[in-house]
Amino acid sequence: MKAYDGVAMSGDFFIVNGLGGKRALAGELPVRGSKNAALPAFSASLLFDAPLLLSNVPRISDVAAMGDIIEVLGGKMERRSADEIAVDARKTQSARLPHEPAKKMRASVILAGPLLARFGEASFPHPGGCVIGARPIDIFMDAFEKMGAHCEEDKQEYRVHAPKTGLCGADIFFRQPTVTGTETLMLAATRARGTTFLRNAAMEPEVVFLAELLQSGGADICGVGTPTIEIRGNKQPLLAPKKSARVIPDRIEAGSFLILAALLGKEMLITNCIPEHIRILIEFLRGAGVSIEETNTALRVRTGATLKPYKSFSIKTHEYPGFPTDLQAPLAVFLTQASGEALIHETIFDGRLAYTSDLVSMGADISLWDAHRATVRGPRKLKGRELHGPDLRAGLAYLIAALVARGTSVVGNAALIDRGYERIEERLASIGATIERVSN
Ligand code: EPZ
Repeated sequence: MKAYDGVAMSGDFFIVNGLGGKRALAGELPVRGSKNAALPAFSASLLFDAPLLLSNVPRISDVAAMGDIIEVLGGKMERRSADEIAVDARKTQSARLPHEPAKKMRASVILAGPLLARFGEASFPHPGGCVIGARPIDIFMDAFEKMGAHCEEDKQEYRVHAPKTGLCGADIFFRQPTVTGTETLMLAATRARGTTFLRNAAMEPEVVFLAELLQSGGADICGVGTPTIEIRGNKQPLLAPKKSARVIPDRIEAGSFLILAALLGKEMLITNCIPEHIRILIEFLRGAGVSIEETNTALRVRTGATLKPYKSFSIKTHEYPGFPTDLQAPLAVFLTQASGEALIHETIFDGRLAYTSDLVSMGADISLWDAHRATVRGPRKLKGRELHGPDLRAGLAYLIAALVARGTSVVGNAALIDRGYERIEERLASIGATIERVSN
């Protein structure tokens, strides 16, 4: 290909030297803290009576954007060390989310829960985030109303008001398990009057992490990690936990690194992760022939130079502990290199297979049947191409595909990848990958 000449991309992009399928990466790759656990924890700071200390916080742009939002509201965020952040939201005065940063990030909507509980009102723009299909917030609004709030919406924003006596506990059944919805309502219910039940609640590890953080400040929550969460509300602020809370490792980063190791690793050790959080991926990969050893916090993948191709397998995305939608794109790259035919069935979002056309342009054999289903046949050799990731998880999948391919690839939209993955090019360089960031 003509390398990167004439690429019309705004912002940074990556130039990736493909390994042509050679298993050449080696060494240790530590996983960073989870974006989707850190962002709700920042929201939780609004409920505490002292600064909240969080460690293992990744240096990513979504964390910076959340800090900006908290500062506009009147709080403060300070990085105390390479991975520790103090969030002090005691002086927060405004309950109106600033539109620009909030529109770019779905997780901003989580702030509505604590703002409503603390100030009796919250207003926010429609939360944006990655382009992966419709991302409504109807379930949040219905639940706020069940807690006694009045919700209005116009073209610009949503406005929610609690009654004068504050939010009251309610019995809420989510017609669809929602991760940020469960988190938002759990935060709101912690400081409501009376008991709230969240039924058909999300069971993701990020929800459990948030509940444990609230419990460390005295919140009365039980049932987390099951579909029924019970929260006994208390109007008082939560007490400051004595030690900093360690953000759980990013299970999607861990799973993506595991796929990278299976495809291109000679011997790779993935550390600072919780294998239990990606049990389903580990089970599928082992079934396909990948040799994975594990401890409670690390995964080792050993691959010989002359391995047969892995066996293909079909997946259906599902809420935790099922197959995560956020690992669906990296898995598709794995399947292009596995032998046989596999069906990918995306059940959570309706716009999350758009990336497959780029993999096809690289030489993958993928048929897209509808917005939810695609068939991948392999193994196929991939060639370097220009790729523009539609969302951050597909962005990392493109970096993996570009490393698998023969020749040079350009992976655009680096800003999307930076939203969730810390200095990805430097970290992958430490195990032997050649990825150059070009700043535009
Ligand atoms: C969270 O999004 C994650 N984001 C997503 O990660 C992840 O893909 C998703 O959960 C599923 O695991 C954060 O944690 C910040 P949902 P969320 O509400 O909470 C429908 C990434 O790359 N729904 O659990 O927004 C919805 O349309 C991101 O880090 C309603 O219909 O997802 C979807 O079909 C991308 N009405 C389903 O529920 C609502 O009011 C699950 O979505 C809310 C959701």
